[in-house]
Amino acid sequence: MSARPRVLISRSAPPAGIDPIKAVCDVWIWPEEDPIPDEEFQKQAAGVTAIFCHPPDKINKALLDAAGPSLKVVGTMSVGLDHIDLEECRRRGIKVGNTPDVLTEAVAELTIALLLSAARRLKEGYACVVSGEKLWENAHFLCGHEITGSTIGIVGLGRIGMAVAKRLKSFNVAKFLYTGNSQKSYAEEVDAEFVSFDKLLENSDFVIACCSINANNPGLFNKAAFKKMKKSAIFINVSRGVLVNQDDLIEALTTGEIYGAALDVTTPEPLPLDNPLHSLKNCLMTPHIGSASYKARNGMASLTARNILAGIRGEDLPSPVA
Ligand code: DGY
Repeated sequence: MSARPRVLISRSAPPAGIDPIKAVCDVWIWPEEDPIPDEEFQKQAAGVTAIFCHPPDKINKALLDAAGPSLKVVGTMSVGLDHIDLEECRRRGIKVGNTPDVLTEAVAELTIALLLSAARRLKEGYACVVSGEKLWENAHFLCGHEITGSTIGIVGLGRIGMAVAKRLKSFNVAKFLYTGNSQKSYAEEVDAEFVSFDKLLENSDFVIACCSINANNPGLFNKAAFKKMKKSAIFINVSRGVLVNQDDLIEALTTGEIYGAALDVTTPEPLPLDNPLHSLKNCLMTPHIGSASYKARNGMASLTARNILAGIRGEDLPSPVA
């Protein structure tokens, strides 16, 4: 029998993450593109020392029970932790590591891309180009909104929120507002004002959701929230789909309660093709690619491997979850 620790990798990852683990461990990798089914995940987890996972692979009580007492460490190749029962991991003494920082710039860049695309109606513009529509003479044709002089509201001024604000500063925005659990001293760097959620909704031209998911914020963006927003407002979500009541968003976009939305995240992912969001001209979506740059994904994979290997050796993780 092999003395090497056994590691379950729930989805393929860049070699920067897999190779260092393979060098010293016996590794099993889920071979398919689709997420690993719960049953298979539990079967493969039995007796492993470490699990290398990605959202949405659920690290819950059932999976931890299936893994058993050999499991020392879970490394998720994500900054988001909403797929992991942290309480249960703590109770069992299982270390958990994630990958903040290495993806901040990539997610911030995609956020800017979504914001600009929604503001200047690139989804409709592209559709016109490919359909050959000739409306160029119309002076109002595909007019959108400028970022210059606008008020930007950031929900969750963490690493990603700050990176977004720093980039948007160069567009000469009039004001940054932010909301969240607490006031941040570093907000001064971008002159951002801490306000209530309602005040942010009422005053922002662009509302950007960058927050992490907690017990209180699923469904935060609901009918009442969209009603408080300006009719000209654009909503951007790069956090998690669960933050939004999607039926309420569809209604807000259809009735003109808000001007537009750009979403990198939805519920579920992928969003079924018959979901009305697909057919709304004022809703642009990308398939959860916030961190999908080569640099970020390599950094995430490498950090996950370092978390896993440190956990196997009984050392402190380079990037532990608090
Ligand atoms: C993250 O790191 O949480 C990203 O959303 C990728 O899932």
